[in-house]
Amino acid sequence: MPSYTFMSTANAYALRGAVPVFVDCRQDTLNIDERLIEAAITDRTRAIVVVHYAGVGCAMEVIGEVAKRYGLALIEDNAHGLGGSYHGKPLGSFGSIAAQSFHETKNVQCGEGGALLLNDPALVARAEIVREKGTDRSRFFRGQVDKYRWLDIGSSYLPSDVLVALLMSQLESFDEIQLRRHAVWQAYHDGLADWAASNGIPQPMIPDGCKHPAHLYYLLLPDLQNRQAFIAHLAERGVQAAFHYQPLHSAPAGMRHGRQAPGGCAVTEQIADRLVRLPLFADLDEHDVAHVIDAARTYKLN
Ligand SMILES: Cc1ncc(COP(=O)(O)O)c(C=O)c1O
Repeated sequence: MPSYTFMSTANAYALRGAVPVFVDCRQDTLNIDERLIEAAITDRTRAIVVVHYAGVGCAMEVIGEVAKRYGLALIEDNAHGLGGSYHGKPLGSFGSIAAQSFHETKNVQCGEGGALLLNDPALVARAEIVREKGTDRSRFFRGQVDKYRWLDIGSSYLPSDVLVALLMSQLESFDEIQLRRHAVWQAYHDGLADWAASNGIPQPMIPDGCKHPAHLYYLLLPDLQNRQAFIAHLAERGVQAAFHYQPLHSAPAGMRHGRQAPGGCAVTEQIADRLVRLPLFADLDEHDVAHVIDAARTYKLN
């Protein structure tokens, strides 16, 4: 799995006693570097986990081929990817399993929550048991068994009705949300292009064949000092920008429960210090967006 991701990606495996092996990311998309995956595989490897960073698809044809050749499961953390596609195929439909997050930071959200997408029908029956505290209660409710029992290790993964009602309203507005998010994303991209180019600040790169869902808009400042100064500059103008992932390979729990792939994670380390995300919400209006762009453009690199 990539080192440049949220800890939920790694927790899922560490909780079951597996060892996350952290692979470096690509400089251009910040996705797991597909050229480094094979060197990280040992005879104890069971799965390749990808995260489509910012909803921009990983190099799935290469990664899928490696998974197949080594007989490994392919799993997608699709927290960013809902609505995105890779060469016409929806993100979240490549792996045998994909995880979807509905945390408040996502395009479609209900505060906290998520979904498991199962692309392998052989996994459905067991998943239904795992999510119902390890029981066959769903079968009992359908009248397929006359009592339900403890069959497997599970937990209370079912969301509450109230949260799902909120999520449903978000899903019903999906097209509208996406339209607005894309408008904000594109306005940032166009409005900052000349400023970014003249300051040597890379803007997000979308490879051919990738349709992204406008999940986040990020810039890569030259270094940590400029990144922090840029965030402070925006805050003084009423704009809340944020950085995120700290590399997992060097985090205390990452070192305790996982390890780095051969070659280390040098790109991840420098990206983590340089990346800043601009506010991206469906309800930002044109004035808000123009204000963010103006505020960013007045920043002078140190
Ligand atoms: C890549 C990635 N995976 C998972 C999550 C979160 O999942 P959850 O908060 O639903 O565990 C996030 C962010 O919140 C994320 O960025």
